[in-house]
Amino acid sequence: MPQTVEELLDHVLIDPDRLKARIVELGKEISNDYASTDGLVLIGILKGCVLFMTDLMRHLTVPHSVDFMAISSYGVGARESSGAVRILMDLKIPLYGRDVLIVEDIVDSGRTLDEVVRLLNARQPKSLRICALLDKAERREVPVELDYIGFQIPDVFVFGYGLDIDEYYRNLPFIGVVKPGSYIAEET
Ligand code: IMP
Ligand code: MG
Repeated sequence: MPQTVEELLDHVLIDPDRLKARIVELGKEISNDYASTDGLVLIGILKGCVLFMTDLMRHLTVPHSVDFMAISSYGVGARESSGAVRILMDLKIPLYGRDVLIVEDIVDSGRTLDEVVRLLNARQPKSLRICALLDKAERREVPVELDYIGFQIPDVFVFGYGLDIDEYYRNLPFIGVVKPGSYIAEET
C-alpha cells in the first residue's frame, strides 16, 4: 500500500484555482499564436501530461489533433532522469509539415525534452514548440527552449495533477510538495 497523501504532503504549492486560471491564460495565448495554423498537433508526453493536456485542450479555440507518446528515461533513480530516452509508445500521427506543440508536465534537468525534441525534429514538422506546466529552472543541465510555461517552481519534488509519486496520486487536483525524508522508491 502506498503512503497516504497526508503522510507524503508537506504543503500545497499550486491549488486548483491557480491551476485553472493559468491554464485558461495559456489556452488563450496558444490559440492566438496558432490562429492561422493549418494543422496543429498537440503531443502529450505520457503519463504526466494527462490532466494538464485534457484541461488545456478544452481552452484551445483553434482546431487541433492530439496524440501521445510514452518514453522511458533511464534514470539514476525513480526521481531523476539521465537523458537516455527510449520510445515505449510512438505517435500514430505523422508530423511532417504540421505545427507541433509538445505538452509536458515538468521540466527538470531538461534531458528528456532535449531528446524528445531531437526525435520529433527528425520528422520534419513545420514548427515545433514546447508547453510545460512546471519549470524547475534551477535544476537545468541541458538548455531547452520552453515556449509556454505554466509556473516556475523551486527545486522541490512535487506530485499531483498528473505528476506521480512512485506512480500514485496523479489524480490529485493540486500540485503538492513532498515532505522531505518521505519514502523514495527505487527505479522499476
Ligand atoms: P528531466 O529529463 O530531468 O527534465 O525530467 C523530466 C521528467 O522527470 C518529467 O517529465 C517527470 O516525469 C519527472 N520529474 C521531474 N521532476 C519531477 C517532480 O518533481 N515530480 C514528479 N516527476 C518529476
Ligand atoms: Mg514521472
